[in-house]
Amino acid sequence: MIKIAILGYGVVGTGVAAVLERNRELITQNAGHEIHVKYILDIRDFPDSPRKVLFVAHFDEILNDPEVKIVVEVIGGTGAALDYTRKSLNAGKSVISSNKELVAEFGNELMNIAAEKGVNYLFEASVGGAIPIIRPLVQCMTANIISEIYGILNGTTNYILTSMEKNNAKYSAALLEAQKKGYAESDPTADVEGHDTCRKICILSSIAFGKHIHPKYIQTQGIKEIEIADMHMTKSLGYRIKLLGRSRLTGDKILVFVAPHLVSDHSVLSDIDDVMNAAVIRGNASGDIVLCGAGAGKLPTASAVVADIIDAVRHMHARRWIGWSEGGKENLSDHKLLESAWYVRTDAPKEKVEREFGSVIFAPFNQHPSAEIAFITSVINEKKLDYLLSRDITAMSKFRILGDY
Ligand code: HSE
Repeated sequence: MIKIAILGYGVVGTGVAAVLERNRELITQNAGHEIHVKYILDIRDFPDSPRKVLFVAHFDEILNDPEVKIVVEVIGGTGAALDYTRKSLNAGKSVISSNKELVAEFGNELMNIAAEKGVNYLFEASVGGAIPIIRPLVQCMTANIISEIYGILNGTTNYILTSMEKNNAKYSAALLEAQKKGYAESDPTADVEGHDTCRKICILSSIAFGKHIHPKYIQTQGIKEIEIADMHMTKSLGYRIKLLGRSRLTGDKILVFVAPHLVSDHSVLSDIDDVMNAAVIRGNASGDIVLCGAGAGKLPTASAVVADIIDAVRHMHARRWIGWSEGGKENLSDHKLLESAWYVRTDAPKEKVEREFGSVIFAPFNQHPSAEIAFITSVINEKKLDYLLSRDITAMSKFRILGDY
């Protein structure tokens, strides 16, 4: 029997305990050992919980118990989570995490400690919820040079955008609904401002390109400025709006950014709705690999966490290799130089737009009595776009159009 501790009894923590109980027999069979939750750490009291006897309030009880071989960190953030992870790894316990913030910021250090101590630090659930994406990158794609990764990596914002578009819902109502369903972070700022997507694309890029990509260097734009008018305009042009994390190799540098994009109705990402996530990984031998599934939520996330627990049990005396080396700003290239077609919404007259931009495609949607129009530019980089807009064309919105430019 392998004893484990769960740190944090929020949405993911309760999901992990539930999956371990619900699929006990199968999990025992797959892990080769029975997995027993010995402790649950949370500062809150849960007097009515059927698991109340497992609760402890002090991490040291877990740290000092040699029977605990695996610690499941589902607290989130980089405060107590970082401290407990460092201490657990240093004490020779494997750590399983769903904490993208911690992995994106401190992953390199934590994996180095794990390597030193001969234990595992696994974090499949940190990106894409239930979608297997870390393992495919670390194992199945390793014969490839990866040139690009992009995708919808945040369930909350995808839920909000889908709801705004399909139900004509207000942003605030859609956000509330996402929070009720347990998709949003406790503070939804990280979701709606794109930081959660940024952390996830940083993790995927660090694995794919071998250098630690720090979120603090990444240009990140969220969804708060998107208006219903943009939904109507883009629909009439044959596109949908999706928040994408993108990264690609540009020479010996890596280009990483997060921003809302227009994706064509024919794109593989177009039908990814609600809380679903999807990522495209482009390998030079594999071609495009598309992975999609539930990107957030209690049981989908727990599915990935428990799979990591099983993997750690199976590899109690061997390390699963995941790693990258330290990286910095010098490894990154300027996203403003990436060329693409652009969507612009403006109240400038069509003649003025054509004079500055040349040939453009205007959105058929016309919102009387509003004078606003929207158009798609030819392929230009952001510096050129900003220059043209500075010639007296006020953009209410400007978003890239996803394409192979
Ligand atoms: N808040 C995150 C999301 C949870 O909505 O995708 C899963 O990482």
